[in-house]
Amino acid sequence: MHVSHHIVLVGPMGAGKTTLGQALAARLGCAFVDVDARIAADHGQSIPALFAAEGEAGFRRRESDTLRAVLAGAPAVVATGGGAVLDAGNRAAMRAAGTVVYLTVDPVIQLARLRGDTGRPLLQTADPAGTLAALQAQREPLYRDTAHLVFTPGTLAPDAAARMLADRLASLESHPA
Ligand code: S3P
Repeated sequence: MHVSHHIVLVGPMGAGKTTLGQALAARLGCAFVDVDARIAADHGQSIPALFAAEGEAGFRRRESDTLRAVLAGAPAVVATGGGAVLDAGNRAAMRAAGTVVYLTVDPVIQLARLRGDTGRPLLQTADPAGTLAALQAQREPLYRDTAHLVFTPGTLAPDAAARMLADRLASLESHPA
């Protein structure tokens, strides 16, 4: 499959956007960009340090700027942060830049992946499971509205999930909805 536009992965923390995104990019022979990693590299600070210094609002501004810059660049598989869909401008930019894929995740798998995580400031609460559920209730409609395609990797290994997603993307391109 020739990649002529971005493939943008959206979905909650712990959905596997980075892992699957890397496997998909390798399979498609294109670049992979993780927006959070780009933000941290551009600012020389970790995501928790940025949250601590500037609050969530400051982080969201940087997230929007970096996302727009990435989307203006060469076609790539782009993994976004779980909250990138909160901003209407981000949602429009993602849809305009290519194909947006919503990666869903079972809450049990999600929690198992994120348990003990210290790199995600929004999860440093007394009840991470409750926090994840509340975020999902708020964001689920935004993920669905933004995405051209919903994909559920379940327990598939990254390479198998990437193969299946590449097939879905190819058929979407040959039979656009
Ligand atoms: C966030 C998700 C994180 C990161 C930041 C905020 C969120 O990215 O952008 O901690 O609001 O859900 P991942 O979805 O890659 O964990």
